[in-house]
Amino acid sequence: MHRSPILVSSLSAALLALSASSLVAQEPAAQVHQTEVRPTGQIEYKAKDFSHLFGMPGFGDKLLKDHFTLYAGYVKNTNLLTSILNDLAADGKQRMPPWAEIKRRFGWEFDGMRLHELYFENLGGRDPIAKSSPLYKKMVDQWGSFDGWKNDFYATGIMRGIGWAILYQDKETGQLFNIWINEHDLGHLAGGTPLLAMDVWEHAYMPQYGLDRAAYIEAFYKNIDWRVVEKRYESANPKAV
Ligand SMILES: [Fe+2]
Repeated sequence: MHRSPILVSSLSAALLALSASSLVAQEPAAQVHQTEVRPTGQIEYKAKDFSHLFGMPGFGDKLLKDHFTLYAGYVKNTNLLTSILNDLAADGKQRMPPWAEIKRRFGWEFDGMRLHELYFENLGGRDPIAKSSPLYKKMVDQWGSFDGWKNDFYATGIMRGIGWAILYQDKETGQLFNIWINEHDLGHLAGGTPLLAMDVWEHAYMPQYGLDRAAYIEAFYKNIDWRVVEKRYESANPKAV
């Protein structure tokens, strides 16, 4: 099950209420298109193409294809919820429960979109982290060794539950943290910079690895694109380069 039943039922209730007022489009694309002609300033997000990842060792094409489809759903729903919120606002219904329920849900969809982009972007690498990189040095400073970081990240990713393990940096102090994100939206560090994202929702590994999340995490490690992760760190810490 990809989405929380609670959230789905919450959204369903909101959408049911909306349908009564004829505000819900059956076709999301039509709803998005409808808002394009309005002066709302709404940006329509587009799903990015990560098909270059097909053939990646340890990640079957079927697993990746289905995951790309799930990701596209978050993009679609981010646009759709923005559109519905704009419509409700235009009708003066911002104080109504449907608006509030969709407002509550928005970050879940948006974060689902953005975290998948971070995840797919930091996959597809073949080379290990560069020991001369500022990120490597920072990891060693904090965890004593690269393996110290790796073990902590693994312990974070293997936790029970559905969500994400993310290597985050606090912009204020430069401190690194391996963080557990529940689902997509609970646990983020405000103002922090996500450097490495690992999806540990069941859909990310169960179709191929069953219950063996550890084997999936090992496959993930082998495919991290450290050049991307190092670049994220260096962009956030220009003085460290
Ligand atoms: Fe996912």
